[in-house]
Amino acid sequence: MTTSSAAATFTALQVMQDAPVIPVIVLNDLAHAVPMARALVAGGVRMLEVTLRTPQALACIEAIARAVPEAVVGAGTVRSRADAQAAANAGARFAVSPGYTSAVGQACRDVGLALLPGVATGSEIMMAQEDGFTELKFFPAMQAGGPAMLKAWSGPFFDVRFCPTGGVSLQNAADFLALPNVVCVGGSWLVPADAMAAGDWGRITQLAADTQALRVG
Ligand code: 3PG
Repeated sequence: MTTSSAAATFTALQVMQDAPVIPVIVLNDLAHAVPMARALVAGGVRMLEVTLRTPQALACIEAIARAVPEAVVGAGTVRSRADAQAAANAGARFAVSPGYTSAVGQACRDVGLALLPGVATGSEIMMAQEDGFTELKFFPAMQAGGPAMLKAWSGPFFDVRFCPTGGVSLQNAADFLALPNVVCVGGSWLVPADAMAAGDWGRITQLAADTQALRVG
């Protein structure tokens, strides 16, 4: 399948603004993809980052894109031009990368995918900005300095907005979301591997619904 030309396109900022949390999803079983996506949508979370970390990931993106039109499925762990092309071909509508290279930035532009590039240093922010990206993923957020790092960056990088990901949980998400340069956070806690393995979709819906309390403003 190729990306439907009828599907709306999203900017990285729109992807970030849709909900307080972008779930970071690892799918090991194609059969889990559609019920998992429906469970998140039922909890009010529709921007879904399916990571390209398993052999099934692209098939899962394709299944969600086809069967869950209320969801907006994106590809995470996009590290190369080939990843970007494969993600777009599978029906992904945005991309998230764990780091940044100009090649990945250009590849996402070429295939029409909004990109949330990962950064962990000032130099990486400057490289992404040079290429026109101003909405960035701060990864790995807790390990690389947490909310204090984002406060420090708000001075020199006053025109950049972030989605911190990595070590973020329901317990500390509000500390990030309270910062003016944070639009949303990313995290895997909405889709625990054991809930997925057990087919406990109700738990995933509840975890998604719990994040709605994090909405600010
Ligand atoms: C990722 O795998 O992209 C992020 O590290 C997710 O981090 P988390 O599992 O700590 O939420």
